[in-house]
Amino acid sequence: MSRPVLLDCDPGTDDAIALWLALAAPEIDLQLVTVAGGNVGLERTLPNARAVLGLAGAALPVMGGADRPLIGVFRSETQVHGMDGLGGVVLPEGPPAAPGLAADAIRERLRTAAPGSVTLVGLGPATNFALALATEPALAGRVAEIVLMTGAVGEGNWTAAAEFNAAMDPEALAILLGCGRPVTLATLDLTAQALVTPERIAALRALKGGACLHACADILAALPPSRRFGHRGAPLHDPCAVAWLVAPDLFTHRAVAASVVCEGPDRGRTRIDRWGRSKIPANARLLETLDAEAFFALLGAGIAGLR
Ligand code: BDR
Ligand code: CA
Repeated sequence: MSRPVLLDCDPGTDDAIALWLALAAPEIDLQLVTVAGGNVGLERTLPNARAVLGLAGAALPVMGGADRPLIGVFRSETQVHGMDGLGGVVLPEGPPAAPGLAADAIRERLRTAAPGSVTLVGLGPATNFALALATEPALAGRVAEIVLMTGAVGEGNWTAAAEFNAAMDPEALAILLGCGRPVTLATLDLTAQALVTPERIAALRALKGGACLHACADILAALPPSRRFGHRGAPLHDPCAVAWLVAPDLFTHRAVAASVVCEGPDRGRTRIDRWGRSKIPANARLLETLDAEAFFALLGAGIAGLR
């Protein structure tokens, strides 16, 4: 079964790889890619998304949206992703962006969809999806599931409390968590299990593939090894969220009540009640474990099949 998917991203090294995985997967019918400012500014994330799609020869609409959060100021994450957002890996320019704004296009797609039929995948600050659903809340009824790379059960990677995507637009994340549709969370605790190591990059390079596989390996090689993991490797966040739609058997998960802190020094911290202690009904599915070897094999096989 191929499910209709609208994907919002901020490429971003790991966003680029997640896009290629989504394009490669027969389980995913990627209908629209929308882009926000995030890892770098929208003036870079949009051309990056266009280039990533162009390299794969994908013909689907890609358009820009929010260049800043609902509240507060824009901040980028160039330490991990480089000034250009793709770790210095230069891709050929992609096809032009479609006219219009992300939130309008998301609403248009949802309006013509059957109830409970469309999956939203969010890989950056949640602003574009939140704008779409906040301005026409009834459209949430068209959504099957919202899959997000966001948040952390434990410590953050932007502040001690908050993960980057959640910290960049907590109000937007709160709108998605409260919209009444099932939300699936790929948090930092999950993505910590998907470490990019020199051995895994070498295994990708050993595969027979085309330009996308080469660019994927180059982008992974550009990721700075993380202090959090003793410089053993870097966590590959966003593709974990896409992999959930492709191979759910690789994951274990549990139902949780999830919310996000919007005020104070812990702004952006996700509160995730794994044991039901709050007695608040579950609104999310927390992805807890990942079969990392199978995940990287899936990634390699999928992207090797692209151009
Ligand atoms: C998330 O933030 C970004 O830097 C990555 O692209 C990922 O979406 C991880 O915290
Ligand atoms: Ca991202």
